[in-house]
Amino acid sequence: ERLSLWGGRFAGGPADALAHLSKSTDFDWRLARYDIAGSRAHARVLHRAGLLTDDELNGMIGALDGLEADVESGAFVAAESDEDVHSALERGLIDRAGPELGGKLRAGRSRNDQIATLGRMYLRDHARSIGTLLVDVVAALEAQASEHLGVPMPGRTHLQHAQPVLLSHHLLAHAWTLIRDLDRLKDWDARAGVSPYGSGALAGSSLGLDPEAVAAELGFNSSAENSIDGTAARDVFAEFSFVTAMIAVDLSRMAEEVILWATKEFSFVTLDDSYSTGSSIMPQKKNPDVAELARGKAGRLIGDLTGLMSTLKGLPLAYNRDLQEDKEPVFDAVDTLEVLLPAFSGMMATLTFNTQKMTELAPQGFALATDIAEWLVRQGVPFRQAHELSGEAVQLCEERGVELWDLSDDDFAGISPHLTPAVREVLTTEGSLASRNAKGGTAPDAVRHQLDNLRAEIAGA
Ligand code: ARG
Repeated sequence: ERLSLWGGRFAGGPADALAHLSKSTDFDWRLARYDIAGSRAHARVLHRAGLLTDDELNGMIGALDGLEADVESGAFVAAESDEDVHSALERGLIDRAGPELGGKLRAGRSRNDQIATLGRMYLRDHARSIGTLLVDVVAALEAQASEHLGVPMPGRTHLQHAQPVLLSHHLLAHAWTLIRDLDRLKDWDARAGVSPYGSGALAGSSLGLDPEAVAAELGFNSSAENSIDGTAARDVFAEFSFVTAMIAVDLSRMAEEVILWATKEFSFVTLDDSYSTGSSIMPQKKNPDVAELARGKAGRLIGDLTGLMSTLKGLPLAYNRDLQEDKEPVFDAVDTLEVLLPAFSGMMATLTFNTQKMTELAPQGFALATDIAEWLVRQGVPFRQAHELSGEAVQLCEERGVELWDLSDDDFAGISPHLTPAVREVLTTEGSLASRNAKGGTAPDAVRHQLDNLRAEIAGA
């Protein structure tokens, strides 16, 4: 017969079908070391409340240490009959400390406050490792931007040529996005740093235990203000899930560009052989699988977030067993990002840019038309009129199948006497770029300044 944690009022054990449905050790086993850390902290507050003698505390800690070593070595694993990580580890503790002492640890705590606490501990650790891996992507972008400072490319809106920008400026746009994701992980951590331990099943404990002491031992900043909230809240999981989904979406947007840039039509980048794949039938193929997997996995992480939010919607307070479904989505997000990010930063760090092609295309497609309009504004022409005049120049070019700089002085003068030969100063990519020199602009000086600020962010990350 199956062992359970609630023998007393039941005539028999659970049906096999229930036990199979109920079982979570397949996915919650990764919380084992956090569960044991929680148990150690709990043993100490039981001791401080006079509920364990000095000897009992020592015996308990010794048994927990032994259990932890056995979990780590794989000598202790969940049995078929264990419902979850908590019940498995209690079985392990009782094996080591005996039923008398081992049976004392459960006083004043519940799996409800345990699981809420362990989940936070696990996610906080992994938020840090994901943050480190994200910094590697930012660093790869920073290195590419530094190396290619001065290379122009076509800046696009609606995927159409819009205005020339520096390649570095474009790459850094992605870097700042990821810096905000890093910030999100950090300020999420402040909200996640509140320990639910001590909330018990939902109403707190009558045993004189100190939740703040447990919180401090487990690395939290404080303990829950409200035991119902402590056991029932999962917004911290949902927010983590959102941040990881946002990271994946941000990577996916970058990935989409890499995929486009690597096409024959664009030929803006060449992927390093070590970050591309071939085809089993077409010998010439070189495929951007890392970028495609990044794009694909973004969908998966959005699914994780959606699934979790759907589980939470409509749950009354406090704990409901539905909440067991909170773990797989966030674990999946962690696992996915922890394999994706190293490949992604490697891909970005080893991209080769076809700077000649980018430079050539940067001013094409009348990308300097806005420069003409703004030049006219500087000559005192109202913008509405300036826009109109520049548009006429574009129309003339389209009729002739030429670019703006191919128009003669007479052509310009024929459109408007305001369009003197001096307008040619903005009809080069360099002139256009250099003129956008305010903070946040794409002028080389502004971008150099931006790079300095980004490096400071990386150093502080
Ligand atoms: N395995 C459970 C979960 O993940 C732990 C809490 C169980 N609590 C309960 N009252 N059955 O949510």
